[in-house]
Amino acid sequence: MPDVDGTDAAKQYYTDVPQTSKRYFLKGSDSLDWGMKNRLGRIFNPVSGKTVMLAIDHGYFQGPTTGLERIDVNILPLEPYADTLMLTRGILRSIIPPDTQKSIVLRVSGGTSILKELSNEALAVDIEDAVRLNASAMAVQVFIGGEYEKETIINMTRMVDMGTRYGIPTLAVTAVGKDMVRDAKYFRLATRICAELGAQYIKTYYVPEDFETVTAACPVPIVIAGGKKIPELDALRMAYQAIQAGAAGVDMGRNIFQSASPIAMIQAVRAVVHDNEIPEKAFDLYNTLKK
Ligand code: R5P
Repeated sequence: MPDVDGTDAAKQYYTDVPQTSKRYFLKGSDSLDWGMKNRLGRIFNPVSGKTVMLAIDHGYFQGPTTGLERIDVNILPLEPYADTLMLTRGILRSIIPPDTQKSIVLRVSGGTSILKELSNEALAVDIEDAVRLNASAMAVQVFIGGEYEKETIINMTRMVDMGTRYGIPTLAVTAVGKDMVRDAKYFRLATRICAELGAQYIKTYYVPEDFETVTAACPVPIVIAGGKKIPELDALRMAYQAIQAGAAGVDMGRNIFQSASPIAMIQAVRAVVHDNEIPEKAFDLYNTLKK
């Protein structure tokens, strides 16, 4: 065959330039496959290494949560400021415009309600549907120490196996039962078990004491849930302290969508997470944007 695109002399092979090979920016993720890294890179910002996930999946076990009664009205205006939307497939298909540029973390465990034992979950979404919905990760609740501990761990490992087949990361969500002590010792145990069994990243709660030991002992990225609504400055302090202690971002719901000004709050959270802004300055930003 003749050389159709020009002469050999015109080509440049840069034979003296070694091919570069960049390490992947996320902790513990360098050995993952290309598709999985690409999806994680749509959740975590490769520049800051962090993420602001907007958690709006609460309805999967507790119905129309305060602030989420009308996701079209209350949440769609926040979408431009989130890195990722964490939600159920029902809300995704019925409310979220398919031309969104935001990555999707799909809630895939379920099967219980606030009326019964919450840890009795199963996998409630098929991997094929996660592929169909172009999910960047799948979230599974894991109840370490809960009544159905083993079942929820196996839910997670099954999702890790299926996700690995298709290149979709699994987010293990460590759920804490009402009677359990929320301390660093518990979260070291819960997050480490999830990481050891294959979760590509983990969501947990922040605790003020020794949280850096939780992130240090966990070989993959940790994001923190926001938890119950607290005053805005306190929520910004929590996010700041978590990031300074090694968290790779937040998966925050109520402290954003139940804020007096959710649009101002999510931007203040972004400043803390992506720009290392101190809480007081981020709170000033919140107050300025609120007006
Ligand atoms: C809880 O049901 C969900 O996993 C939420 O996504 C998680 O708790 C984060 O939301 P929040 O910041 O409101 O705790």
